Amino acid sequence: MAAVSGGGPHTPSVRIGPIDLAARVDEALAVQAVAFGLGPEEIEVRRHIVLRHLDHPCARALGATTPGGRLVGFVYGMPNERGQWWSTVVEPYLRATGSAHWLDDSFVITELHVLPKFQNRGIGRALITAITDAVDQPRSILSAIDTESPARGLYRSLGYQDLARQVLFPSAPKPYAVMGAPLPLRRRG
Ligand SMILES: CC(C)(COP(=O)(O)OP(=O)(O)OC[C@H]1O[C@@H](n2cnc3c(N)ncnc32)[C@H](O)[C@@H]1OP(=O)(O)O)[C@@H](O)C(=O)NCCC(=O)NCCS
Repeated sequence: MAAVSGGGPHTPSVRIGPIDLAARVDEALAVQAVAFGLGPEEIEVRRHIVLRHLDHPCARALGATTPGGRLVGFVYGMPNERGQWWSTVVEPYLRATGSAHWLDDSFVITELHVLPKFQNRGIGRALITAITDAVDQPRSILSAIDTESPARGLYRSLGYQDLARQVLFPSAPKPYAVMGAPLPLRRRG
């Protein structure tokens, strides 16, 4: 388990380490609801999706936990499989940019969220770096809303580059960018 230092007296240190995400799915979705903005109906839909993803034998999850045991951030992902829904949606976009080979031998970051009060302290960076450091795949892919967000800035600083832009998922109102990075992820400095 890695420690991420506190940001002052009101922001305690957190520890980064494996969590049983299936057992803590409601806590994790509560984090995602605040960080990303999810309504009650979306939370219920996400709950089923997360639990289905976690059936994958190579799915991994890490959490950021306060000394009192509160979950304040999490990441999970799994090796990409071309038959999975996410992969089938992004595949034509990647084919159009000549980057469809990124779908093979790649670890997908499915979700990464940190509670706003705990953001900008290195927790997101520590979560995504730790999870990808432990996988066998030589690269990682993910999708993020196609706007200049903290998430996109963080991903770029870790070595993720745009593979496709303006990717439309049937259920999502906003277009996404698909990004890919070689592993291990780039270190700061
Ligand atoms: C994306 C997210 C997980 C990052 O978590 P975090 O703990 O704040 O991230 P870190 O503190 O490790 O890293 C912050 C990095 O984000 C980037 N960043 C932060 N604010 C930024 C901004 N306003 N613009 C651009 N980049 C920014 C920087 O690259 C920064 O790196 P630095 O440490 O070198 O300055 C968090 O912002 C979050 O939960 N956002 C809402 C949910 C979301 O968008 N999740 C991703 C879905 S794809």
